[in-house]
Amino acid sequence: MSLQEKLETLKVATLAKIEAVNELNALNQIRVEVLGKKGPITEVLRGMKDLSAEERPKVGSFANEIRDLLVEKIDEKKTTLEAAALLVALEKESIDVTLPGKQMPVGTRHVLTKIMEEIEDIFIGMGYQVVEGFEVEKDHYNFERMNLPKDHPARDMQDTFYISEEVLIRTHTSPVQARTMEKHDFTKGPLRMISPGKVFRRDTDDATHSHQFHQIEGLVIDKNVTMGDLKGTLEKLMQKMFGADRQIRLRPSYFPFTEPSVEVDVSCFKCGGSGCNVCKQTGWIEILGAGMVHPNVLEMSGIDSSVYSGFAFGLGPDRIAMLRYGVNDIRNFYLNDIRFIHQFKGE
Ligand code: DAH
Repeated sequence: MSLQEKLETLKVATLAKIEAVNELNALNQIRVEVLGKKGPITEVLRGMKDLSAEERPKVGSFANEIRDLLVEKIDEKKTTLEAAALLVALEKESIDVTLPGKQMPVGTRHVLTKIMEEIEDIFIGMGYQVVEGFEVEKDHYNFERMNLPKDHPARDMQDTFYISEEVLIRTHTSPVQARTMEKHDFTKGPLRMISPGKVFRRDTDDATHSHQFHQIEGLVIDKNVTMGDLKGTLEKLMQKMFGADRQIRLRPSYFPFTEPSVEVDVSCFKCGGSGCNVCKQTGWIEILGAGMVHPNVLEMSGIDSSVYSGFAFGLGPDRIAMLRYGVNDIRNFYLNDIRFIHQFKGE
């Protein structure tokens, strides 16, 4: 077989292989086999040294033609196979954009946080400052400065978690009163503050008791503050919280840090006062404790009780939330059952 014939046979066979191949790796294999250094074309070109000077350029250009043709066909096929591979990949990786997306669970602030922020906003609107106190507090501020010396029987009203003899976790937010009063500069104006936060008591948890709950303390000190100011302020608060028709009434009570002390009731927001299950048929709901700041408390904080007077109150956001949303077990607020918590998402 002449070299030309060999080349012709090689061309036909290779074109058939290229035609038949349907995979990129196999195509590359053909390229290496036929066109590579050890391939038949190189071999033919190497054999040219035995040819006559006449034949050499003919065979040479024929071999080059064939090589160029094969390179072209291989490249063509490569392009075709790559396009097909891309189609397959696109097909495999395609996403159905019409499928519904995965729902991301969205959190919400806790219902008690919301109630406290709502109350804060009301008082901020009346010119009060919001003061943060300490959850770990000294006996001195929690009790003594609130007119509850060590042997005072009213300490029994608040069963206490002590950390040491002088340090405890606060049983109420009232110590923030003393901490704020002792720092206040009355030449700059009256003191109006609220202090929301957690409080702790050694209670056995049940439907209406939790060893941890919340309070919002309120305090106003100025010259000539009266019980009328207290009543007007709390009436406004209750109307904003429970409806514009609400009324309040004050009943005599006792707290060591106020004199006189009162228990405040709000007219029932459910029945309007005629009697229902929420107000236990009385028309009134007991809602908070308050009073006129005891002169001892003022004096211990360095305030002249013959010049200044003030009122104070202590609100329970847990109780307010229970009433408003008909929650009958305070423990629900602290168990973090998502089914409970999510009910207040829209509130
Ligand atoms: N500290 C009281 C308590 O925890 C609540 C309270 C009552 C606060 C009357 C006050 C107040 O500021 O005047 O039971």
